[in-house]
Amino acid sequence: MSHEIRDPFEWFDAWFKDGLKTNLDNADAMTLCTIGLDGKPSARIVLLKAVEAGRFCFFTNYESRKSRELTANPFATLVFLWPTLNRQVRIEGRVEKLSRDRSDAYFATRPRGSQIGAWASNQSREISSHLDLEKRVAEFEAKFKDAPVPCPPHWGGFGVAPSRIEFWTGKPSRLHERLVYTLTSESVDAGSSWKTTLLSP
Ligand SMILES: Cc1cc2nc3c(=O)[nH]c(=O)nc-3n(C[C@H](O)[C@H](O)[C@H](O)COP(=O)(O)O)c2cc1C
Repeated sequence: MSHEIRDPFEWFDAWFKDGLKTNLDNADAMTLCTIGLDGKPSARIVLLKAVEAGRFCFFTNYESRKSRELTANPFATLVFLWPTLNRQVRIEGRVEKLSRDRSDAYFATRPRGSQIGAWASNQSREISSHLDLEKRVAEFEAKFKDAPVPCPPHWGGFGVAPSRIEFWTGKPSRLHERLVYTLTSESVDAGSSWKTTLLSP
């Protein structure tokens, strides 16, 4: 780990590309941890779709459990594991919805089956059987026929603007390297910068 790169986004970009190059399954998969409405942690995997404007972006149903939790408490942690590279990244920060235009633009690139699925699935809600879901898929296929499928209003992206990013490299005898970047103030606009710290494994 060279300590010369001072920008954590450059670090992340280099590691993410290494993950993709290594042909790891799901190099873009990250654990998204939110705070449950009951105050308990709640986690699941989502896919990183972009890093832009200083935010790590993923897309989901805005009425899902995770979205309800993020609306109530807009902070999250993301965790990547790239096992063959012996690397982990932990990202903590404030979460914001992406713009409607950005969500629409990404939605338009999705395979049609996924677009129909976004209309058919009331993500995180109880269903009586899988058959009900298949019926809803058929209904929306009929509704949109050969027309383009618009992005549902209840579907879109979130971006996590990090205030702390930790890069972990596995080393022999558990003497792992932990390099932490912490934002010196919550707002990047206020001229804040990244402070680096090494932690004992
Ligand atoms: C490899 C993988 C990738 C996933 N990617 C997404 C994703 O990008 N967006 C999403 O909403 N759910 C994704 N899921 C499903 C979520 O893990 C989860 O089941 C779903 O979002 C509902 O979570 P919630 O009830 O906590 O809101 C993915 C699951 C796996 C295993």
